[in-house]
Amino acid sequence: MSDNVYEKLEKAYSCIREKTSFVPEIALVLGSGLGAFADERVDIEAIVDYKDIEGFPVSTVIGHKGRFVFGTVGGVKVAVMQGRVHYYEGYPMTDVVMPARLLSMLGAKVLFLTNASGGISKKLGAGDFMLIRDHVACFVPNPLIGENVEQLGTRFPDMSNVYDNRLCEIIKNSAADLGIDLKEGVYAQLTGPSFETPAEIKMLGVMGVDAVGMSTAVEAIAARHAGMLVCGISCVANQAAGISPNPLTHDEVQETANKAAPRFKALIAECIENISDHLQLRDI
Ligand code: HPA
Repeated sequence: MSDNVYEKLEKAYSCIREKTSFVPEIALVLGSGLGAFADERVDIEAIVDYKDIEGFPVSTVIGHKGRFVFGTVGGVKVAVMQGRVHYYEGYPMTDVVMPARLLSMLGAKVLFLTNASGGISKKLGAGDFMLIRDHVACFVPNPLIGENVEQLGTRFPDMSNVYDNRLCEIIKNSAADLGIDLKEGVYAQLTGPSFETPAEIKMLGVMGVDAVGMSTAVEAIAARHAGMLVCGISCVANQAAGISPNPLTHDEVQETANKAAPRFKALIAECIENISDHLQLRDI
């Protein structure tokens, strides 16, 4: 099993390396509504379509492009995922986290995750941004289940500081510099694809969850396992089920995420430059 996982990663790595020798400092995963960041903000050096990478999972969600964009943002070398796959699409969890692991193999030291979520906490409304301080991932299969991939990391990785405190401070300062209001909270990943019931949202709220979505936490686990530093920002696209009186729709999520995108893109660009400046990533 672990050989399969690692062999698959090595094949995918070779496919990318046949096309580009680019080594990113920071890897960025673009969530709903953010795809245009790669076209607008990145000085592109290379593009690799997911479909051209052997064994790579390809997203079936409308509105998600499927490609790696390699280039620079304010001079910082980035690998951007324009589109991600979700567990609900039917891929095994090891495939869902394959991109995060590949980004580590390509040289990225930081994984910067973004997503859209439903707000549970009273302090979160549609259009708000939430810095992810911690996550609840125990409602989805752990992506490290199976024989441990020793080449990547240890069997029992620590998860007491998944979202790196230094990165969180840099992101908070970047938001303050831009005058962007940034909330903080705990993100829970559920499998989807159905939205939650009001009872599930009530349960998550009691458990201390501030926002809920269908991605991100498993990618963060795989990245930490591989030794990357992780950070994440969630765009609250709607109030979660039962908090809002209205039924939830994917269109509503997309629409709010699209509206928030200009501010979100500015924030991410600022964060990338500041993270690179502060952490001197080449020394990590
Ligand atoms: N629930 C789960 N995932 C989501 C939501 C939600 O309310 N909004 C955006 N992604």
